[in-house]
Amino acid sequence: MTALPAALTAPADAPEVLDRCRELVRPALVEAVGRMHPWVGEMAAYSFGWCEVGGAPAVASGGKGLRQALAVLGAEAAGAPGRAGVPAAVAVELVHTFSLLHDDIMDGDAARRRRPTVWKAYGTGPAVLAGDALFALAVETLAAAPGGPHAVRVLSAALGDLVRGQADDLLFAARPWTGPQRVRPEEYRAMAEHKTGALLGCGAALGALLGGAAPSVVDALDRAGRHLGIAFQVIDDVLGIWGDPTVTGKPVHGDLRERKKTFPVLAALDSDAPGAQRLAALLDAGGDPEEAAALIETLDGRSVALAEAEGHIAAVETALADVALEARPVHELRSLLEYLVRRDL
Ligand code: IPE
Ligand code: MG
Ligand code: MG
Repeated sequence: MTALPAALTAPADAPEVLDRCRELVRPALVEAVGRMHPWVGEMAAYSFGWCEVGGAPAVASGGKGLRQALAVLGAEAAGAPGRAGVPAAVAVELVHTFSLLHDDIMDGDAARRRRPTVWKAYGTGPAVLAGDALFALAVETLAAAPGGPHAVRVLSAALGDLVRGQADDLLFAARPWTGPQRVRPEEYRAMAEHKTGALLGCGAALGALLGGAAPSVVDALDRAGRHLGIAFQVIDDVLGIWGDPTVTGKPVHGDLRERKKTFPVLAALDSDAPGAQRLAALLDAGGDPEEAAALIETLDGRSVALAEAEGHIAAVETALADVALEARPVHELRSLLEYLVRRDL
């Protein structure tokens, strides 16, 4: 396996910062969800891993809580107490959950975090409604915070980007592997920045904004989050092809079987080598994923993807170095970054 650079393989203490931020945000998140219609609120609570279908308490995974952590750290990096970023943290977690509820319907996915998806458990209509309600609650929460109107504008812009990225992602599926209509790596980059990076950047930026940061700091954190999003997505793609299924929880070569337009595949197809045509034919015919994975590696798809991720991680560092930030939260941000990109590569 191609190794990640040494800087990214240092021991990471990210779970600690994730736990700290989750604890700080949880009361406000619980309070916000408690204001929802009870049935809709149950679907939200189910998504957060707080309850089973029917409302019985549960302790299930509600995700890493990355976005809420970025919001808290954004406020702290700007010199404010973490609690200043809590309304931002609540808003981005609600928006993230909303986007997942609707995404699982669009993708037709039956499971998330090893449990049935909301649309599978409650029905498609109710899942659409719960997503809408989460979105509305996010806006309401942020609007009520000091600096609310500006913050809501920032969130709306990120949502516009998220929709743009999701639209491109959906459209990519129907595009051919070769020829002028093929998806280029730079189109993927823009899609990933919009679909994933925009909300990560928005979390950190909103935390800083509510913490009273200067516009240059807010911008730098937004940029850092966007690059983090691209790196995260590209690494996800590498894991989707070569990751250990016992660690990823996904079937081996799953993304190849589903013929997803992932970065390593697009990078391999962008090569001038004759193997690129063979790979395209193999993908078109739904051929052996093992052989496709080997071809992608031969065509440098894997190493180009890892270099891509590395470049965006370096860009995160550059963005953070561009402005004056508090040292401790930046250290925690770095540990989070290392943890996210390390995974099982
Ligand atoms: C996630 O997209 C949803 C959005 C950010 C809108 P994906 O479809 O790529 O991610 P997973 O695999 O379902 O989490
Ligand atoms: Mg999906
Ligand atoms: Mg999707």
